[in-house]
Amino acid sequence: MNTTEKQSRRDFIAISGSALAGSLFLHPVAQALSIFDKPGQKMKLAMVGTGVRGLAMWGRDVIRAYKDQVEFVGLSDKNEGRMKYGKTFMGVDCPLFLSADQMLKDAKPDVLIVTTMDSTHHEFIVKGLLAGMNVISEKPMTTDEVKVKAILDAERKSGKKLIVTFNYRYSPHRQKLYELLRAGEIGTITSVDFHWYLDTSHGADYFRRWHGRKEFGGTLLVHKSTHHFDLLNWWLDSDPEEVFAYGSLEFYGKNGPFRSKTCRGCPHASKCDFHWDITRNEHLTKLYVENEQYDGYHRDGCVFREEIDIYDKMAVQIKYKNNVQVSYSLTTYSPYEGYRIAFNGTKGRLEAWIKESQPWDEKNEDELVLVKNFGQRHIITVPQGGGGHGGGDTRLKDKLFLDPNKPDPWRQSAGSRDGAMSCLVGIAARHSIEQGKPIKIQDLTDIPLAASGRGA
Ligand SMILES: NC(=O)c1ccc[n+]([C@@H]2O[C@H](COP(=O)([O-])OP(=O)(O)OC[C@H]3O[C@@H](n4cnc5c(N)ncnc54)[C@H](O)[C@@H]3O)[C@@H](O)[C@H]2O)c1
Repeated sequence: MNTTEKQSRRDFIAISGSALAGSLFLHPVAQALSIFDKPGQKMKLAMVGTGVRGLAMWGRDVIRAYKDQVEFVGLSDKNEGRMKYGKTFMGVDCPLFLSADQMLKDAKPDVLIVTTMDSTHHEFIVKGLLAGMNVISEKPMTTDEVKVKAILDAERKSGKKLIVTFNYRYSPHRQKLYELLRAGEIGTITSVDFHWYLDTSHGADYFRRWHGRKEFGGTLLVHKSTHHFDLLNWWLDSDPEEVFAYGSLEFYGKNGPFRSKTCRGCPHASKCDFHWDITRNEHLTKLYVENEQYDGYHRDGCVFREEIDIYDKMAVQIKYKNNVQVSYSLTTYSPYEGYRIAFNGTKGRLEAWIKESQPWDEKNEDELVLVKNFGQRHIITVPQGGGGHGGGDTRLKDKLFLDPNKPDPWRQSAGSRDGAMSCLVGIAARHSIEQGKPIKIQDLTDIPLAASGRGA
């Protein structure tokens, strides 16, 4: 028999009360966030990387929602035109800097926000920390193990803190999974089946941009899967220990039947399923097309470019320090977008089939299924949060800018250790594919690995 649990505030408190009793503590990262809290003063923000993510999520939307808490004192990007457009788009009146070093020196922000291309994050994180400010960085923290070490060393040396913005942790159904696992609903977690599907629109978009080159995004195992590996590390409450992976490029890149440089001017446009006219989007045209003269970057690159060297299908096995085994995959050309996950435990199974952005399937709640061994099947519906990434974006920013001291009972604030552990799984997977052998996380980092709990 199915039972449906609507997640009301009362249920929420009930679960919080039973599972999290005594754990309403300030997580070390949340404690670090309290550094940002200066009563009566606005937090002075500077941003490097005025691209689409920086300008909307960390620029315009932050100004709109937290104008009483924050002010921008500088913007920096290597593309002068994009930076100028960004200032107008954000509606701010702060100085612009082609050099981030100059910005840190002149604007003296409290917090530096890093939203550049992935392979350059470390450069600005290290500069910001060593210049004496706290840093908020977009995911992935970085793209290889040498850069991971440089970031951790700079943080230790500076005494300042890095926050890595893992917005996925904050969406309500993922928080609910965390609560149910911590409450021991399936006993000891033993294994996880986790499969993520990117569709022919969102998935293809990674192959149009800088993300299609290993040197810039570290492959989607780092750029994209860092979200998923962070969720696993967080849900399982353990560090990853060993990774084995397969990956190949069989659909995009050199596999295409024809190619061009960009969609604009492509002679194959009429027969290409992936043809995309960027000029129909005014914002993206102003952001990228009108500023190509400064850096030669084409936002509408052909998905069949020969230079693409990342994988478009990936399968990863991860063994955790607490002995949990994970089977993970990422597919980048599915007809629809979403993920399936199942946690197997000694007392049952907790699963979800989360489909995203389906025009034919409009809904505002997510469904989890909890099946007890020898027992009943419970369907748990969780209302979705409003805003980007299932409500994760807004809740993450509220925590950062509105109430940094708010207790963090679900451990959703993430710092450099979380950033390192998640991108190291992707880095290890990439090495595993390239070297054809399992890779131990401990061989990539001097962070001591821990198995802090097993489910309950
Ligand atoms: N958390 C999420 O859900 C999410 C979503 C989208 C993007 N992101 C992250 O945000 C970051 C930015 O992504 P985007 O989609 O905005 O990319 P983008 O290409 O639109 O923007 C990147 C910007 O960085 C600038 N830049 C690159 N290298 C630089 C350098 N060395 N010095 C100064 N500026 C430099 C570029 O000129 C560009 O303006 C990425 O790290 C990405 O992973 C996160």
